[in-house]
Amino acid sequence: MAKTWLITGTSSGLGRELTEQLLKRGDRVAATLRRPERLAELAGDYPDTLWVGELDVTNGEQARTVVDRAWLDLGHIDVVVSNAGYGLFGAVEEVSDADIRRQIDTNVVGAVAFIKAAVPHLRAQGGGRVIQVSSMAGQMAAAGMSLYHLSKWAVEGFVEALHEELEPFDIHTCLVEPGSARTEFGGGSMVIGERLAAYDDTPAAKIRGRRERSRESIPGDPSKMATAIISAAEAPTLPRRLILGSDAHRLIVNSIHARLDEAYAQQHTAALTDADDYAPAASH
Ligand SMILES: NC(=O)c1ccc[n+]([C@@H]2O[C@H](COP(=O)([O-])OP(=O)(O)OC[C@H]3O[C@@H](n4cnc5c(N)ncnc54)[C@H](OP(=O)(O)O)[C@@H]3O)[C@@H](O)[C@H]2O)c1
Repeated sequence: MAKTWLITGTSSGLGRELTEQLLKRGDRVAATLRRPERLAELAGDYPDTLWVGELDVTNGEQARTVVDRAWLDLGHIDVVVSNAGYGLFGAVEEVSDADIRRQIDTNVVGAVAFIKAAVPHLRAQGGGRVIQVSSMAGQMAAAGMSLYHLSKWAVEGFVEALHEELEPFDIHTCLVEPGSARTEFGGGSMVIGERLAAYDDTPAAKIRGRRERSRESIPGDPSKMATAIISAAEAPTLPRRLILGSDAHRLIVNSIHARLDEAYAQQHTAALTDADDYAPAASH
């Protein structure tokens, strides 16, 4: 049966791919984006199933209004996809305070505001699914990407907690963790801080070559990624995390292994700081 989706950041990349694939198979899509004119042609092709709303996710008031209007016009929305985002790169000394604020406003506060606006509607209709496009960068970290990691680790923690918080309302969440993909992410969308010569021969400088990466060296096919997200969203049980791309899988597994090894190694020393009369509650 056809489903209804609400998606942010549908002008290009994964959001656009999702929108096009869903419309093609007969689903309804409430597509939101900063510049609605970018979907004008698609709106002409799908006058009955494409609903378009203007949304800059950094505008909390606009998020509430657009989400409310989407529910009012469409009645029921099965899947909400918080996808809008971009990467701010450079060593921490190289990025401006304003750039840091914008990264967090978009990738973190924007995602939270959008999902927060959708939750009362999902609850009122008796449930639904929330998909947050995170990144492999939400499970590992590398020099020159600290602010992007900050934003994606933040949404990982947010959605991880929502999983338990919203389950009683039959609302289920999924964190999508793509690796590098052939979208605008590494091109026009990417923001890089001003070069500081001191970092030239350090690992943080590697990020500067990112814009020059050849297409063939980027593994992720956005079309296949969108198809995988749609399949996961429709599975009887929504996966809590969806890793997309061989690079993402390798880097996430390596990162988790390293953190797990370190955590196991501290099992005994961690307990040394427990109070002498500590009596663990049954649930801990
Ligand atoms: N491609 C990758 O390598 C990769 C890897 C892991 C995760 N991701 C994540 O995937 C998601 C989608 O990115 P993409 O790869 O599809 O890149 P993209 O082609 O650059 O698309 C990003 C989308 O986000 C929108 N956006 C940015 N800031 C916004 C704002 N303030 N309000 C509303 N929309 C905004 C952009 O709209 P405008 O056209 O208005 O700028 C665009 O529609 C992001 O969350 C990104 O972090 C990407």
